[in-house]
Amino acid sequence: MKNVAIFASGSGSNAENIIEYFKNDDRVNIAVILSNRKDAYVLQRAKKFGVPTYVFNRDAFYNSQFVLDKLLKYHTDLVVLAGFMWLVPDNILNAFSGKIINIHPALLPKYGGKGMYGMFVHEAVKQSGDTVTGISIHYVNEKYDEGAIIFQARCKIDKTDTPESIAQKVHALEYEHFPQIIEQVLFPVLCNGTPKI
Ligand code: GRF
Repeated sequence: MKNVAIFASGSGSNAENIIEYFKNDDRVNIAVILSNRKDAYVLQRAKKFGVPTYVFNRDAFYNSQFVLDKLLKYHTDLVVLAGFMWLVPDNILNAFSGKIINIHPALLPKYGGKGMYGMFVHEAVKQSGDTVTGISIHYVNEKYDEGAIIFQARCKIDKTDTPESIAQKVHALEYEHFPQIIEQVLFPVLCNGTPKI
């Protein structure tokens, strides 16, 4: 059984989609949800599924072992950032090297970095006049949105699209692909010695 910890700061629709995807899979346990916001809706979603939750503040995250202790307590195999806004500190990066992944709502390396989150991303994409956007799932390192890319998927932007409608298209891609990529990261399929993803 693989244990997954999800970090989320907001609504948590991806977190819920991931919980749903694995709920009848006895190889994967969504063990814990951690949030830096006590009012994050993701906490209510977690409760509905009986997934334990913890909330932490900036001081606990960056100056204590609180979050690392929780990850160890639940024997975490993979950390999934699903709408989580803070950089991950070194104590967690070191303990979970190559075991932390994030989803970004654009085609990195475009529209990534500090301040590029949520609607800011879709507004920037709309303003650019790009005709394609998408999602990037990547490993997490000490910089915003710069870890190695695992997977990208694309969607078209029509002239009539607004930042809101772009967000909807991107969310649909996230729901379709993120759980499957988590599954592939947890259970890599080897093909001539090279991971398929
Ligand atoms: C998603 O668009 C994700 O790509 C980004 O934050 C958003 C989270 O949405 N990192 P939700 O909280 O899962 O609804």
